[in-house]
Amino acid sequence: MASPNTSKNKHSLTQLFSAEEIAARVRELAAQIDRDYDGREILMIAVLKGSFLFIADLVRAVKSPPVVDFVRLASYGSATQSSGIIEVRKDLEMSIKDKDVLVVEDIVDSGQTLESLRSILLNRQPASLRICTLIDKQAHRVTNVPVDYIGFSMDDGFIVGYGLDFAERYRQLPYIGVLKKESAHI
Ligand code: IMP
Ligand code: MG
Repeated sequence: MASPNTSKNKHSLTQLFSAEEIAARVRELAAQIDRDYDGREILMIAVLKGSFLFIADLVRAVKSPPVVDFVRLASYGSATQSSGIIEVRKDLEMSIKDKDVLVVEDIVDSGQTLESLRSILLNRQPASLRICTLIDKQAHRVTNVPVDYIGFSMDDGFIVGYGLDFAERYRQLPYIGVLKKESAHI
């Protein structure tokens, strides 16, 4: 689709999910969430930064009244692969005790980020804890972390757009695309 230039490398970007496909899928997920929560208040936790656009659309699509909080995690590793060592960079501001919590993620890859977050949150004794991810990338999964709501599944490849970045770039794209380095693997 495009041939964007980052500061050092040339990448090609091919659309995988259009803005319209994403919007339609978000509406379906919201309807599924509404059926399950049946009007109960949902404490939605966005995992920054990648899920900021997804949660913005999701909170406007659900009918169950949402409350929103944010957590920022950092995993040590390369730009495209997490190491499994997770640090909480910004913690929640709200107590989740006895609340119905829905974690909103951009993408589950190895599952290590989510597995760590899940155990941190379970220690705080929510009434319930569910996980919603826009993208489920299964090729590198190393955990059995349960994911309750999945927008799209894909096998492999590095994607950007609709909140997802490569070295902080491309988050603003309204669609999701696969990013490839023109000369070698990223
Ligand atoms: P995990 O711990 O391996 O599941 O990594 C999850 C995190 O890595 C996601 O929340 C993203 O921030 C990042 N990530 C994994 N795959 C991609 C991708 O294809 N594009 C952009 N970010 C990704
Ligand atoms: Mg994420």
